Amino acid sequence: MTTINAVTTLTTDGEIAVLSLNHPPVNALSAVLREGLMAGLQQAKVLPGIRALVLICEGRTFLAGADIGEFGKPAQGPSLYLIQDEIEAAPYPVVAAIHGTSLGGGFEVALCCHYRVAVPSAKCGLPEVHLGLLPGAGGTQRLPRIVGAAKALEMVTSGTHVGGADSLAMGLFDQLVPEGELLAGAKQFARQVLAEGRPLRKVRDADDKLLPDRGNAALFADFRAANAKRFRGFLAPEYNIRCIEAAVNSASFEDGKQVERTLFLELVSGIQSQAQRYAFFAERQAQKIADVPADTPTVPVARVGIIGAGTMGGGIAMNFANVGLPVTLVETSQAALDKGLAVVRRNYENSAKRGKLSSAQVEQRMALLTGALDLQALAGCDMVIEAVFENMAIKKEIFAKLDAIVKPGAVLATNTSALNVNEIASATARPEAVVGMHFFSPANVMKLLEVVRGDKTSKPVVATAMQIGKKIGKVAALSGVCPGFIGNRILAARGAQSQAMLLEGAMPWDIDRVLYDFGMPMGPFAMSDLAGLDIGWSAETSKGASIRDLLCEAGRRGQKTSAGYYDYDAARNARPSEVTRQIVADFVARQGRSPRAISDTEILERCTYAMVNEAAKILDEGIAQRASDIDTVWINGYGWPVYRGGPMFYADTVGLPTVVAQLQAYGEMMGPGFSLSPLLLRKAAAGEHFTR
Ligand code: 3HC
Repeated sequence: MTTINAVTTLTTDGEIAVLSLNHPPVNALSAVLREGLMAGLQQAKVLPGIRALVLICEGRTFLAGADIGEFGKPAQGPSLYLIQDEIEAAPYPVVAAIHGTSLGGGFEVALCCHYRVAVPSAKCGLPEVHLGLLPGAGGTQRLPRIVGAAKALEMVTSGTHVGGADSLAMGLFDQLVPEGELLAGAKQFARQVLAEGRPLRKVRDADDKLLPDRGNAALFADFRAANAKRFRGFLAPEYNIRCIEAAVNSASFEDGKQVERTLFLELVSGIQSQAQRYAFFAERQAQKIADVPADTPTVPVARVGIIGAGTMGGGIAMNFANVGLPVTLVETSQAALDKGLAVVRRNYENSAKRGKLSSAQVEQRMALLTGALDLQALAGCDMVIEAVFENMAIKKEIFAKLDAIVKPGAVLATNTSALNVNEIASATARPEAVVGMHFFSPANVMKLLEVVRGDKTSKPVVATAMQIGKKIGKVAALSGVCPGFIGNRILAARGAQSQAMLLEGAMPWDIDRVLYDFGMPMGPFAMSDLAGLDIGWSAETSKGASIRDLLCEAGRRGQKTSAGYYDYDAARNARPSEVTRQIVADFVARQGRSPRAISDTEILERCTYAMVNEAAKILDEGIAQRASDIDTVWINGYGWPVYRGGPMFYADTVGLPTVVAQLQAYGEMMGPGFSLSPLLLRKAAAGEHFTR
């Protein structure tokens, strides 16, 4: 065995050289790995008697891509291009032996190998689009030469990871070998290639899959049109499409590669990719808690209990069933339980209709859900999540009962979206077991899990909530206790401004349009209509003291009544409403105010800067551990456009002095409850940033 460098070794087995890479955690193509790979390839070439080379990785995965942390820093070590040329020009077949995830630059290296062998669990893909990028090492030119333009377009713009069997069927892998036998299988494959005298196949030379689409402008126009909504606001999908177009229509591979190079360089230095790369690391950083180290013991969770089988409870239950964990769902009546389980079944069956699940999988998941009408059924659960409606007295009563029923050591979680977790915990004799696990609706879809740490929550309980979040595919972020926690507290700050501007002369659709154009999935008024305007409202207590009261009194309760701030047609398309316009105008007039024209800039600044200001307070108070956690919450729970990096990153791009100056300029209009965050003021004055 020859040690090439700290991460690379070269061994031989008869006529086969094996170049092995080991750069934990994910074998990213950092400078040290590229150096080892290049040197290893060159050394293998001069070894006597070598007739084939197997490229394999140790640890949990094959090369998972370029080192994202190196972008924007001075280049070191050999470029990926040079390495790829070295592989393609090898005097013998080079076989990539793939396990784990072969992604981005890692898959682009594999695509330069003459053959690819993988275990069935291996996946491959070009996920650069999620980082605001495109595959910059020939991926956009080689991929369509294997799978054709249509499939390549879908793969590069969605960033999907393709499983082993599908990769084999699509020609991305040449052979699957049994799990655990990758090296032996790859060597055997290499020997077979030699025995059969198969050629040194180069993907770059294979044009036949491209030719049918040459000049087919409709293919690309149709793809753009069909996906316009999905790609809204993002630069990278369009740039990826242009590269596939170049692959199809360029006179040569090199010409297409040049287009890819130019567009990659533009994206990598742009603000969108910077924001998306930041968000990638922010999400992973959010997993880490300063005083709860990674080796903190956790509660083994083998059975989960959920109280409440409504929209939230049912959605939460699906997350656990999806990963094979049995769930006990408790309701107060058989009818409510049946209804809740029926909704879950319908959701699964809809997934099956879309081809995402087999009918056997639907049944497997449903079989993991057990209904019960008595809290006693939760006795043996390792984690219980309360998901009843937002009423402190009811929640305390439930927790007091749980305390007497659930086994010691179990986690007692509340899905409250705003209530005081410490007060809920005080209803038990074990406040250390109580934690907030705030899921977002629809809970089976939305990525965010806000884990709320009470004053007495133990470290193992916090660690368990974070860990189970990752297990069920959520992005978990930690919050301290305050009304609304990180996410809803910032939402309330935005809500206050949008309501204030309604009274100053803006209409709901003006405000929603500005925020939608900024990249949010919807504005605050469309969101209220979706949630229901009558949440927390009752006809008996309504005083007609707000526009919301007046809308509800007029029977306009939101989408469910086909009328709220907007009018809705049968397909739930929203239209500005003359009725709402009149209600707002009358209300404003009764208050003795004269409406003024409010510019789009003012709408955007007051909404987003008020959010930044509230976020700064949250950070200052230690409710959030770090600025990037706040961004993670808003990107994954509220649809803040990831290409703007979250409110904190956005504030840094605008410049904190500008944010402060504008908030000061709006002055009293910001409302009597508004005050500037001392942290924001300090940072702006010191020329500091939140996220850099
Ligand atoms: N560069 C640098 N660090 C990376 C990395 C990368 N490409 N991929 C993962 N990491 C780091 C993570 O930040 C994390 O670090 P931490 O432990 O310090 O927090 C650690 O590796 C483990 O990552 P995950 O927690 O995400 O581990 P998982 O097992 O859940 O997932 C994975 C593994 C599927 C490989 C996932 O990490 C992933 O999707 N990585 C990104 C893959 C990617 O986007 N590749 C393309 C890069 S761009 C490129 O190649 C450009 C080229 O075309 C020129």
